[in-house]
Amino acid sequence: MKLFEPLNVAGMVIPNRVMVPAMVTRLSGEDGLVNKDIIDRYVRYARGGAGLIVIEAMAVHHAKSGPLLRSSDDQFVPGLSDLVRRIHGTSDSKVVPQIIHFMKVAKSGWRQTVDMLSLAEIDRIVEEFGDAVVRARTAGFDGAELHSAHAYTLASFLSRANPRMDDYGGDTLEGRLRLIGRIFGNIRRKVGDDFPVGVRFLADEFIKDGYTVNDAKLIGLRLAQLGAAYLSLSVGGKFEDAVHVPGQVPYPYTGYSGDRCMPGDWYPAMPHVQFSAEIKTFIMAHGFNTPVATAGKISNPDDAERLVATGAVDIVGIARGLLADPDWPNKVRHGEFDRIVKCDYCNVCKHLDGTHSRVICALWPQGSLQAPPDDRSSEAPRWSAEGANLTATMGEGKATLKWNKAAGAARYDVCRTDPLGNVEIADAVKVTRWEDHGLLAGMPYRYHVCAYGAAGQGGTTSNTVTVSLPMLNLAAHA
Ligand SMILES: Cc1cc2nc3c(=O)[nH]c(=O)nc-3n(C[C@H](O)[C@H](O)[C@H](O)COP(=O)(O)O)c2cc1C
Repeated sequence: MKLFEPLNVAGMVIPNRVMVPAMVTRLSGEDGLVNKDIIDRYVRYARGGAGLIVIEAMAVHHAKSGPLLRSSDDQFVPGLSDLVRRIHGTSDSKVVPQIIHFMKVAKSGWRQTVDMLSLAEIDRIVEEFGDAVVRARTAGFDGAELHSAHAYTLASFLSRANPRMDDYGGDTLEGRLRLIGRIFGNIRRKVGDDFPVGVRFLADEFIKDGYTVNDAKLIGLRLAQLGAAYLSLSVGGKFEDAVHVPGQVPYPYTGYSGDRCMPGDWYPAMPHVQFSAEIKTFIMAHGFNTPVATAGKISNPDDAERLVATGAVDIVGIARGLLADPDWPNKVRHGEFDRIVKCDYCNVCKHLDGTHSRVICALWPQGSLQAPPDDRSSEAPRWSAEGANLTATMGEGKATLKWNKAAGAARYDVCRTDPLGNVEIADAVKVTRWEDHGLLAGMPYRYHVCAYGAAGQGGTTSNTVTVSLPMLNLAAHA
């Protein structure tokens, strides 16, 4: 598979095209230091075979925040070195830290915006990013990634909502690009040209009057001209439309732009890849071969392969899918698609991040802080002689499915086949009951349930049931 071919990213050779995009874990303390839980989380991704691991956002400055890693001082380097050493000692995965600057937010809902920063503060941000890249190099990372996406400082300068009126101002694209240009210049002065520095930025802000792919193509081209090692595209995740819960610090993934950033189970697969492909085509047409990474509800191995094989993008970012199953790359490489613990995009992980709680996946066994090992010795779950006895009861516009427990099952995938024969995994649950609220009356739907062990063993299939909601009298509704 093309997905498992290596790629040279400005001198950093990643062994395959599967990337763990940055995902805050809330496993560190407020001290910002690497600890055992952090190491265990990332070694697990290395063991699972990801080509590029982007370590969660770590602050380049000292501002107060919840639990978050930091690279704002030399005191953080030994812990970061240890993390890198452990990852490199586990596999040939490459590893870069995502480095972030954020502004102040308050429980009242007030937040600092870029127009409140003085020129001296901007100068300091330039130095802080440069210093953090120096520390990344000292710690042994293979490169670094600038976080210029979502609700954070660099993205707020790039934004069409940038309210500054000076040289860094929002009324011109060049004004919006000035800070990131200065940061690249400073990084090159401090670490030279041979340390790969990629950038994560937005393909679409997904806020009213925000920028779209039209600007993103130009931003991508400028970043390529500045020597970015790779471009990693995300979308949305802004404060502008965040829902403020009184007494809580605003969380930028609560509004529509937040939905787009971490699309939930009601979204179609891969809702943003076309933007990344457009950006790649545009920068290539201008003579740049800078690798482009995309992310957003990619989980099907055939989809991932197609994205890379067709040249739409170079690297496939899988965040929640790899949280659910860090062994996704190895399982796909070995053709074991049906052993993957498939993310159901329930977004429990996102809610844990929002409440500064330790981020886990709801599909892991109860109480686990890390994904279970890929245990091939334990037996696949089995139904007793009575079988699964899957039943479906219709009523009040929905179907209620129930089935028997299978011995050794950690979760069940509920599969639904529509009248055209398309099978989708409608949900992944740990209980033996599920309701389908999305039925169109008059259409036959077929269900079966698959039982899996904690590491994805099994896939034992239940009996099949077919149901159809009675057709409404449409004339009576006219
Ligand atoms: C719990 C959690 C934490 C995240 N933290 C970061 C982060 O630190 N930096 C970042 O750029 N994106 C972050 N993201 C966004 C992901 O990198 C990714 O873009 C998004 O989840 C969509 O990809 P997916 O559908 O494969 O999950 C986070 C997402 C989740 C669910």
